[in-house]
Amino acid sequence: MLKLGILILGALAATSAAHPQNAPAAHVNARSTTTCSAGDSSTTDGVQAILDSSGAIDWLDIMLGSLSNGESDWVDSLWEVVFPGEGTSPLTGCGDIGSDCDPSSMCSAYSSEMAYWVFRSVGMLHSKVNVVHDKLLWTGWLAGLSIDQISKDFSSVSPDQTWAKWISAAFSMAGGIATGIDLSKPLRGMVGFAAAGLTDVSMTNTGGDSVDATSVENTLKNIVGAAGNYVSSILQNATGNGDSTALPIYTTTTYEHGTARFFADSTILVDENKDNSSFVAAYDNFADNIEKKLVDVAMKTAWYVLVGEENTNESGCTMTGAYWLEAKDGEYRCFYLSRPANDHNCNDGNPSTCVSDAWQTPYGGANNQMDSSVYTKLTDTYGFDMKAYYTSLIDCYLNGNDEVDVTVTTNNGQIPRCFYSGYVRSGYWYDDGTQLSNLWFTDF
Ligand SMILES: *[C@@H]1O[C@H](CO)[C@@H](O)[C@H](O)[C@H]1NC(C)=O
Ligand SMILES: *[C@@H]1O[C@H](CO)[C@@H](O)[C@H](O)[C@H]1NC(C)=O
Ligand SMILES: *[C@@H]1O[C@H](CO)[C@@H](O)[C@H](O)[C@H]1NC(C)=O
Repeated sequence: MLKLGILILGALAATSAAHPQNAPAAHVNARSTTTCSAGDSSTTDGVQAILDSSGAIDWLDIMLGSLSNGESDWVDSLWEVVFPGEGTSPLTGCGDIGSDCDPSSMCSAYSSEMAYWVFRSVGMLHSKVNVVHDKLLWTGWLAGLSIDQISKDFSSVSPDQTWAKWISAAFSMAGGIATGIDLSKPLRGMVGFAAAGLTDVSMTNTGGDSVDATSVENTLKNIVGAAGNYVSSILQNATGNGDSTALPIYTTTTYEHGTARFFADSTILVDENKDNSSFVAAYDNFADNIEKKLVDVAMKTAWYVLVGEENTNESGCTMTGAYWLEAKDGEYRCFYLSRPANDHNCNDGNPSTCVSDAWQTPYGGANNQMDSSVYTKLTDTYGFDMKAYYTSLIDCYLNGNDEVDVTVTTNNGQIPRCFYSGYVRSGYWYDDGTQLSNLWFTDF
């Protein structure tokens, strides 16, 4: 009750200050004595305590209702209310990437603690979104990918619009690991801004527009660049230059204004170095996930198939690259990779029609053996955990629909369903009396 009283008083004081002729003289004195609780902004709980005890966001929501243009251009309008008679707002750059936005960091400069935390939040948002934007447009990560080598090792791939979805998922995976949260929960803070940008691109036509069918590099750069445009619109809209209700809002507060609901998120004010370090860690991991997914796409293009061999037992499943894994409902198979011989026509998109002698023998068959150095490339060159890779391929085949789904994961929550989506088949080998062994596909 006391807090609410102070709040309303604060709102009234600031509102009357908007009309300098009515401003009580005491207001100026009150301003110079403002002190702010020394909160702990190194954790989201600490930030939440600051926002709760100061009532900053409740105040913002009330003030937005009192400004003549409402949320439109609110940062400047609110500044003029908080600093009456001090000319035009120095914060006109707060909505733009690359512009200056330096709200005073001295609590005593403000007429209330509430105003102090609101403007600190604006400055922090500006700074964080600028870093996220720069990093999204930074192509250094792309230069680190072995795109030409992947083509040599497996096959060249042609980008298409489904790429926007897995690029977005590659970032969510990286962000989940960096922040230690489960992927089905929204990622927040700087990691969350980038994830929201990539999700937006994956769900809109922008994803399709970014595709350059002739270039893997251009497509990756375009998709991540389009996410950069989205994060700059987060900054614009949150500072009064767009639709605040379209912002990525993860709080469940009931404030009237989208802007207040957005700023109620305790990750905005959280210590910048800390937020930045999880973001940078996620970004490094992102490139690694992209590279692995490109390998998965290239292997699919080259017709590698993960075979779950029937009529086997665990003690017989000891070949290089083979794993004894659950196929479904407690049924296990010996899984390994196989590949059609080059001269067989398997390019109708359906591996189940490439039956009989179309498949090279992975382990036996002296004349027709698959090159098992593929496993060394996957593990040593590209860093795959083969068991985790097979497990997610099997899950996608049995439970997914070929579309990446970040709300369901395999491998301890680390890989979204169908992030990897290479071919998987069940089958058994038989001898047709020639020198070839033949793989007969069946269903699981
Ligand atoms: C920003 O607002 C515009 C409309 O003004 C809207 O089209 C866009 O989706 C919004 N972006 C965000 C991140 O809220
Ligand atoms: C955040 O990370 C970026 C990119 O690595 C770096 O340029 C910037 O200085 C970092 N900011 C802080 C506050 O650590
Ligand atoms: C397991 O399979 C191997 C090879 O197929 C076979 O030699 C062995 O007898 C089998 N063992 C059991 C316990 O069935």
